[in-house]
Order: sequence, then structure tokens, then C-alpha cells
Amino acid sequence: MTLDGPAASGKSTVARRVAEALEVPFVSSGLLYRAATELALRAGVDPGAESELASLLHGHEVRLEPGREADRVYVQDEDVTHRLHADAVDAAVSEVAAHPRVRAWVNARLREIEGPFVIDGRDMGRDVFPDAYAKFFLTARPEIRAARRVGERAADLDTVTEMMRRRDAGDVRQSGPAPDAVRIDTSDLNLDEVVDTVLAYVAERRADAAT
Ligand code: CDP
Repeated sequence: MTLDGPAASGKSTVARRVAEALEVPFVSSGLLYRAATELALRAGVDPGAESELASLLHGHEVRLEPGREADRVYVQDEDVTHRLHADAVDAAVSEVAAHPRVRAWVNARLREIEGPFVIDGRDMGRDVFPDAYAKFFLTARPEIRAARRVGERAADLDTVTEMMRRRDAGDVRQSGPAPDAVRIDTSDLNLDEVVDTVLAYVAERRADAAT
């Protein structure tokens, strides 16, 4: 099952809760883009240099381990998860993620994970798992998304709004709903309402599949 949408649309919280309810792992594809970015920043590789990024990624063993509480990412067996939501990573990740060779590397890692699982991202339903049995695309008004994100970052509302605006612009090409995705605007819904909506669709799909 895929759940896509822009930053702070609620997708990862919803995906985690839905995965829990369905008793399957939750996989966050963004963590691999963040890991690629963190690796580049640490190695001093320019986020715009596609070939250098590709060699860097192919020269490291990066592992994403889905977990009940949170996914963890290991680079050469070192747990780097706690470094992946730093402001420097937020600021550079869209540029890193725009490179086709970086996307191919992430997608190959994701396709190695054994299903079933709930996965969130930007293009999971459209490009990476087009055969998923249920697909969702979550949105929310920009001011709502900024207000949600400000609690998770050590920055004020204006800074968060500006960073989100830049990331949205950088992510345009690699983001989008699958034509068969169910779209949910989460602006005026609370978490339980979104989770219930998703689970109701999933139950419907399963019932259809069984007939
Ligand atoms: O939670 P939030 O949406 O802020 O971030 P995320 O899902 O961890 O994704 C971080 C960044 O990775 C995004 O801004 C995109 O640049 C990139 N990304 C992507 O290009 N494609 C995906 N399927 C997932 C993330």
C-alpha cells in the first residue's frame, strides 16, 4: 500500500498508524533520500554532482530496516537515523533526490524489501510500486503543513514556511499522485479521521479483491 504527498501532509504519521492497524511494517522512502544526502554532506560531495553522488552511494552499504516504532537506517553498520532530520539535510535533500541515478539507487533498495508493507514518499504509487493494491495521496493547505512542521523543527514559523516552500518547488518533478490514487485533503481532519478514512478504503479494496 502506498501513501504519497508533500512534506508535513501527515503521510508518515498516517502511514505508521495504518501499518500498525494492518500489522505490516511501515517503510519511509524519504529516509533513503535523507541518508544519501547526509552521506554526501559528510563526504563533502556537491549535492548537484550526480556522478559523484552515484559513486558515493554505490561505494557504501546502506540498509533501511523497517521497525515497529520507527525505521532505522544504517550506513556501513552505523545507525545514522538520528542525523537524517537535521536542517542541513532538509535544505539539500530535494537537489540530491532530483538526480535519476540517485532515484534508481533508492528504488532498487526499496524493491529489495519483502512485502507486504505500507510505504510513504512522493512517487511510490505512481513510479515505484504501480501495482500496489491501494494508493493514497495526502495533501494539506501550505499554512497547515507549516504549522504542523514547526513543532518538529528548531525554527520559527516563517523559516519553516520558507524551507517548505523551497522543498516543494524542488520536489515538483519527483512528486505526484498515481492516476488511481485516492486523494485526501487532511487540512481539516484530525489524525484519527485520516487513518479511519484510509483504513475504510483498504477494507473496501480487500472486499473487492475477495469477490
Ligand atoms: O516527511 P517529509 O515529507 O518532510 O520528508 P521525507 O518523506 O523524509 O522526504 C524527504 C525528501 O526526500 C523530499 O523532500 C524529497 O526531496 C525526497 N523524496 C523523494 O524525492 N521521493 C520520495 N519517494 C520520498 C522522498
